[in-house]
Amino acid sequence: MASPSPTAAPSSTLLLLLVSLALAAAQLPLRPPAQGDTTNSSDAAALHAVFKRWGMQEDPAPPAYDPCTKRVWHNSSEMEASIDCSCSDPAPCDCCRITHLKVTGYRNITSMPEELFNLTDLVSLDLSNNNLSGRINPNIANLTKLEIWWMFDNNIDGPVPEFIANFSNLKDLRIYGMKLEGPIPSKFTNLTNLTHLMIGDLGGGGNYSVNFTGVWSNLSVLDLRSNNLSGPIEQVFQSKKNLRYLGFTHSFVHSSSMHRNYIGTSIAASGSNLSEDVSLLNCLDMKECNPRDLNNLVPFAVNCGGKEHTSNRLQTVFHDDSTDLRSAGFHVDTSNKWVVSHVGADPFSNSTGIVNTSKIISGTDMPDLYRTARTSTGALWYYVVGLTSGTYTVQLFFAEIVIESDSGRRLFNIEIQGRRIKTDFNIFEEAGGFNKAINITLNEIVTTPVLKIYLYWSGRGTCCIPYNGTYGPLVSAIRVFPSPVQASPAPTPHTSRRNEKRRGVIAGIAALSIAAALISSSVVYLWWKWVSLVKHPKA
Ligand SMILES: *[C@@H]1O[C@H](CO)[C@@H](O)[C@H](O)[C@H]1NC(C)=O
Ligand SMILES: *[C@@H]1O[C@H](CO)[C@@H](O)[C@H](O)[C@H]1NC(C)=O
Ligand SMILES: *[C@@H]1O[C@H](CO)[C@@H](O)[C@H](O)[C@H]1NC(C)=O
Ligand SMILES: *[C@@H]1O[C@H](CO)[C@@H](O)[C@H](O)[C@H]1NC(C)=O
Ligand SMILES: *[C@@H]1O[C@H](CO)[C@@H](O)[C@H](O)[C@H]1NC(C)=O
Ligand SMILES: *[C@@H]1O[C@H](CO)[C@@H](O)[C@H](O)[C@H]1NC(C)=O
Ligand SMILES: *[C@@H]1O[C@H](CO)[C@@H](O)[C@H](O)[C@H]1NC(C)=O
Ligand SMILES: *[C@@H]1O[C@H](CO)[C@@H](O)[C@H](O)[C@H]1NC(C)=O
Ligand SMILES: *[C@@H]1O[C@H](CO)[C@@H](O)[C@H](O)[C@H]1NC(C)=O
Ligand SMILES: *[C@@H]1O[C@H](CO)[C@@H](O)[C@H](O)[C@H]1NC(C)=O
Ligand SMILES: *[C@@H]1O[C@H](CO)[C@@H](O)[C@H](O)[C@H]1NC(C)=O
Ligand SMILES: *[C@@H]1O[C@H](CO)[C@@H](O)[C@H](O)[C@H]1NC(C)=O
Repeated sequence: MASPSPTAAPSSTLLLLLVSLALAAAQLPLRPPAQGDTTNSSDAAALHAVFKRWGMQEDPAPPAYDPCTKRVWHNSSEMEASIDCSCSDPAPCDCCRITHLKVTGYRNITSMPEELFNLTDLVSLDLSNNNLSGRINPNIANLTKLEIWWMFDNNIDGPVPEFIANFSNLKDLRIYGMKLEGPIPSKFTNLTNLTHLMIGDLGGGGNYSVNFTGVWSNLSVLDLRSNNLSGPIEQVFQSKKNLRYLGFTHSFVHSSSMHRNYIGTSIAASGSNLSEDVSLLNCLDMKECNPRDLNNLVPFAVNCGGKEHTSNRLQTVFHDDSTDLRSAGFHVDTSNKWVVSHVGADPFSNSTGIVNTSKIISGTDMPDLYRTARTSTGALWYYVVGLTSGTYTVQLFFAEIVIESDSGRRLFNIEIQGRRIKTDFNIFEEAGGFNKAINITLNEIVTTPVLKIYLYWSGRGTCCIPYNGTYGPLVSAIRVFPSPVQASPAPTPHTSRRNEKRRGVIAGIAALSIAAALISSSVVYLWWKWVSLVKHPKA
């Protein structure tokens, strides 16, 4: 027989000590609901009132069930209504407080009822992918225990409220894809517990300062995609030792110490010295370009995300564009004089930049063209280089080949030469179905040697249907050729407008160089090739 272990029976003194320690603890440890527990009646009444206002028919009048026992009202890939509770007294008790509330994917939810702010023990509130509109109700400030607050993809407008800085426990704030206006209040730097901050698509004039000088030493994900931010990038890196994801698109961030321009990137770096990673940035000037031989018989075309494809009917060769650009990168086709660039790392998935399907594509006699596509969770740029001034017909080919249920919404914006041609473009809606072709054709007056096609995510739409990272622009093919008839002579460009275009082009190219810094030296090599293509076309 084994001798008793010395720790098997604690002495009565030790037991006494343990008991007194437990009694000394300010509160009993919180526990999940158990058999016989019921929800705090004030929480139960508030939740019932909220669900009633949201017209959730799953909710019969109380006391038919207890909320903390029921817990889940709906759970599918596109919609969820659920709560979590924790209880403070020994079971059974009527003490269980609602700590988590998640109601997402209800496109008919347009407001936050006042009763919601009676749920004062909420630690986590997820109202993403609904259709909330109006301002953020300041009474939400009553939920002082909030640690997680997600409200992305709604129609909330007004300035980003400063009172959010009062949620001192806040760890995870995701309020992108709404209609909020900047700037990001500088008081946000008080939120020192933040690990995730995702604010995007800030309207209201744009060009906000990126002066986050606060000590966000716990911050691991800083996602500022789709904002017009400007300022010195060094400040972004300051005191953010745990930063592993930094996302920018649309921004004009510069480095005062390095005298270089930075723009629109996503950095997915695990390393320590982020400023090293972004040091290889430059600004390109695109004055000299060798004109391409482009006429009505030989249009320029690219099969986005796919192999070379010849269309006899269109008498067009769609060039190969099957290079994997990973989370950020670019590809230069020197012989056909075009460039594709993308920045778009998603913080929570390894999304693929190239997608394909073997399904039947309807509405076209060129289905193969649509079976592959390039996509990005940030932004895609296509540059056609060497154009002479004139009017061109630009055709963009689309088919939604990834999302196959109408609960998923892919929304993105399209700009050509810096001019917005589509806002919240939804391929599925425009085409009237999935795996269905839809084209955009327009005439563009080109006065620079470079035609820039820019497709980008503005923060809207679903993120994760059918899989994480399913959002952002998707394009199947592009075709450009001189417009057959010039109705009127090309107007002499207005000077300031031309400058605007130039800046846009330079901005996009700078994004290429930051991508180069992150991918590999072979991409850096391509970048130099690109420089020589533009600057020394005959070299
Ligand atoms: C919410 O709380 C207020 C007081 O703060 C109270 O008057 C009201 O009845 C509560 N509403 C519900 C539905 O619990
Ligand atoms: C909102 O949609 C949900 C799910 O489709 C439905 O159960 C609910 O009744 C709708 N609410 C209103 C107010 O129509
Ligand atoms: C909803 O369903 C998913 C997958 O079936 C599951 O992982 C998740 O825990 C469920 N959520 C709740 C609140 O039960
Ligand atoms: C329910 O929570 C409220 C705080 O909102 C508290 O005042 C009340 O005593 C609680 N009721 C029960 C039965 O625990
Ligand atoms: C929120 O708190 C303020 C004061 O702290 C109070 O006047 C207001 O009624 C509260 N709102 C709700 C919905 O409980
Ligand atoms: C969302 O709400 C807006 C009004 O704020 C409305 O125009 C729109 O139709 C709603 N969307 C859906 C999908 O119900
Ligand atoms: C935030 O907290 C400060 C200090 O506690 C207070 O003065 C201020 O009124 C609060 N702001 C809001 C909007 O609640
Ligand atoms: C951060 O969270 C801890 C609890 O985890 C809390 O004690 C502290 O007050 C919070 N920080 C701030 C700045 O409020
Ligand atoms: C932010 O923190 C500073 C110093 O810690 C404090 O003086 C200031 O009142 C805080 N601001 C808010 C809005 O809490
Ligand atoms: C944005 O504002 C800064 C000054 O705050 C200015 O230097 C910069 O030129 C502006 N950028 C754009 C694109 O307007
Ligand atoms: C940040 O810039 C804004 C202007 O955009 C200015 O009002 C604010 O004082 C600046 N904050 C810091 C900490 O420099
Ligand atoms: C992405 O891929 C890398 C390497 O393959 C892996 O370590 C990482 O966990 C993946 N991240 C996600 C969010 O799937």
